Amino acid sequence: MTPTDLPLGTNPSRQRRSDAAEPSQLANDASASTASQSGKLQGKGMAANTISLLLGHPDPATLLPSELRNAMQQVLSSPQSSTALQYAPEQGTHSLINVLVEKINREQGLALQSGNLMVVAGSTHAVDMLARLYARPGGVVLVEAPTYVDAIHIFRDHQLELRSIPMDEEGLITRELEEQVARLHSSGTFPRILYTIPNFHNPTGITLSEARRLEMIRLAHHYDFLIVEDDVYRDLSFEGTVPASFYALANGKQVVSIGSFSKTLAPGLRLGWMFGSEDAIQRCINCGTTQMGGGANPLAAHIVAEYCRNGHWEKHILHLRSLYKMRRDVALSALDQYMPSDVGWTHPAGGFFIWLRLPKSVFAQDVKRLALQQGVSLAAGEGFFVNPSEGEHHLRLAYSCAAPNDIATGIRILAQVIQRARRVEQ
Ligand SMILES: Cc1ncc(COP(=O)(O)O)c(C=O)c1O
Repeated sequence: MTPTDLPLGTNPSRQRRSDAAEPSQLANDASASTASQSGKLQGKGMAANTISLLLGHPDPATLLPSELRNAMQQVLSSPQSSTALQYAPEQGTHSLINVLVEKINREQGLALQSGNLMVVAGSTHAVDMLARLYARPGGVVLVEAPTYVDAIHIFRDHQLELRSIPMDEEGLITRELEEQVARLHSSGTFPRILYTIPNFHNPTGITLSEARRLEMIRLAHHYDFLIVEDDVYRDLSFEGTVPASFYALANGKQVVSIGSFSKTLAPGLRLGWMFGSEDAIQRCINCGTTQMGGGANPLAAHIVAEYCRNGHWEKHILHLRSLYKMRRDVALSALDQYMPSDVGWTHPAGGFFIWLRLPKSVFAQDVKRLALQQGVSLAAGEGFFVNPSEGEHHLRLAYSCAAPNDIATGIRILAQVIQRARRVEQ
């Protein structure tokens, strides 16, 4: 089954999980399409072999390294298999917790104890749990504008109100954050959570500066909200170091940090982790779904712990960094070569995404529609915003799933489409 033809829930606006921007529109696109190994889409209303710059999925060719296959066989044929198929301890499979605590401490210079970390079924599970446990229906959650579209869904599922804080090239604008939070407090509203994607942000590719992180921590302590740091792209850095995490900068106070195997191994494992104060982790361990179902995905957790034991994951991450860096470079040079001079874009230092700013005479929906007719799919900006109209002159390009030639061709076609989509300015 491909990621685009999974049967999803019954709500027509949520027919499939997607990290792209327009759930209902994309559900339509996707229900009629399949993604091939080459990252090309085929389906109703699309040119044959559509080049997909749409989904922020890992390259399908990277999903099953031989060492992961070996680890699967090893776990299934060992006496561990019955443990792996049993309910897991609520906090998660211990061997995986140990692997993660060691890696995070080594790389981030932290002193996490095992009680600071919990295995989760991907970042999605952690965000959902934190939304449920740290906010109440009608409560306010702060997010970046733009932000990850499916996080918007989760917070809305919990009937939380979203307030968005604009970003610039350094990330969330802290002055705006302070003004909004102060205003909310003066009207008797106390936001409980700030959700942020600090590194190689989805959809913009921007990395939040350290100065801004420190300022956000100061505001979290002053106004008493939890920072939820969704750091799923941290390991996919192309230029060396990544700024210190919120958790490191705040000495673990009022921060929960989330990571995932979805971007650096395989999203189908449905495996990630979160770390925070022992109290925060305990709260998640004590919650109903964890108590009822036990720790997340024990079979996958045993396999991944086995895979990680011999350093295979770290080697795989190095391979992914060079693969995606090369694609990022191809995309940036094609943008330089083909884009009209009044189009702007970000220069991500890691991750999967480039964010385009269109001139006011060009609307993202027009570009998206025309591009699809010409065989290129990409995400229009609206769905990434709490207030969709803020995205009507933006596009997100994902370079993670397309072959280099297709990235260059797709961007050349996109540049022509943008020229054609110009509306006459009044
Ligand atoms: C910022 C962000 N968070 C979370 C996810 C989903 O992660 P997971 O598969 O671990 O639930 C994505 C995937 O696109 C993402 O971009």
